[in-house]
Order: sequence, then structure tokens, then C-alpha cells
Amino acid sequence: MRITALAIAAACAAIAAGSTFAADPAPDDRSAARGKYLAQVGACNDCHTANYIETNGNVPEGDWLTGSAMGWQGAWGTTYPANLRLTMARLTEAQWMAQARSPRRPPMPWFNLRDMSDNDLRAMYRFIRELGPKGQRAPAAAAPGVAVDTPVIVFEPKMETAARN
Ligand code: HEC
Repeated sequence: MRITALAIAAACAAIAAGSTFAADPAPDDRSAARGKYLAQVGACNDCHTANYIETNGNVPEGDWLTGSAMGWQGAWGTTYPANLRLTMARLTEAQWMAQARSPRRPPMPWFNLRDMSDNDLRAMYRFIRELGPKGQRAPAAAAPGVAVDTPVIVFEPKMETAARN
């Protein structure tokens, strides 16, 4: 009797676990919901949404991916995370697919987009298109050595003196 009850409980748990898994987006899912998930776990908000890192991701979805005026400065000059809401608004899905995997300057991890499946890229396009255009264009990139009038994060590897000894 007890064994049966345990077996039933285990079966119920398995069914519950199974249904949770089934609700997760499948790799061939091109939906906007899948795109939202990819934007979140793919760290796009970390750079392309102002204050996302500073607030542990506590930025309303309506403000996501509107770009940032925080510059990233290194050997490549100064770059700004683009306003992806405006980027997607001006691109057809076919145009997005044609250029989504193009090389970009640091610190954009363009190789992460390069390695995404077509379905994942389409899902991200749908999600960002559904959010709709919002905000301003990010400041233009500056060449190395050119002064900018925004805050910057300097990408410069350093070795602390203590660590060298
Ligand atoms: C570490 C910061 C960082 C992360 C993380 C990041 N980006 Fe970027 N992204 C940038 C920067 C900076 C640029 C501008 C690069 C340049 O000027 O060449 C950029 C540019 C782009 C562009 C070009 C847009 C245009 O209109 O020129 C696209 C598309 C893009 N990112 C998509 C994404 C997506 C999608 C993700 C998440 C998978 C992501 N980025 C994650 C920093 C980042």
C-alpha cells in the first residue's frame, strides 16, 4: 500500500516535471517569447539597456534594448551599445538575417550572434520588433584617441603590483 502511494507520488512528480519541460521553448521555436528568453540569457540587456547591470536586471521590459550612452573604451576607440529597438524597426526580417552575423567592434560579442541558429535570430527579431521603436540613437563611435563627452568604461587589462611579486 505504501509502496503504491510512493509510486503514484513519483509518477505525479515525473508528470509535473515533464510538463514544465514541455512548456520550455523548443530550439525550433521562432516565437517572440523565445526571443525574449534569448535576449535575457544572452546578456543583450547587460549592455544594450541602460542601468540593467546596476539594478540587477530590474528595468521595465518597455525600456529594454534602447541602447546606452555609456561608452566602452579600448584599443578600438569608444563604442556605444546600439539602440536595438531602432535597429530592428528599420530592418526587415530578411535584412536582419543577412547582417545579424556581421563582425562588430568590441565589446559587442558578435560571434555569439554568429553562432546562433537561424530560428533563434528570427525569434530575437520578433521579440524586439514587438517591443517597438523607442528612445534615441546611441552616440556615434569615436576613433582611438578621440575625446568623447559621455561616461566611459575603460577596457584595459592591468596587473596589480602585488600580484607580480
Ligand atoms: C558587452 C556589451 C555587449 C553585449 C553583452 C551585447 N552587445 Fe550588442 N553591441 C555592443 C556595442 C558596444 C555595440 C556597438 C559596436 C560597434 O559600434 O561596432 C553593439 C552593437 C550591436 C548590434 C549592431 C546594431 C546596429 O544598429 O549597429 C547588434 C545587432 C547587437 N549589438 C546585438 C546584440 C544582441 C542581440 C546581444 C545579445 C545576444 C548583444 N548585442 C550583446 C555591446 C554589447
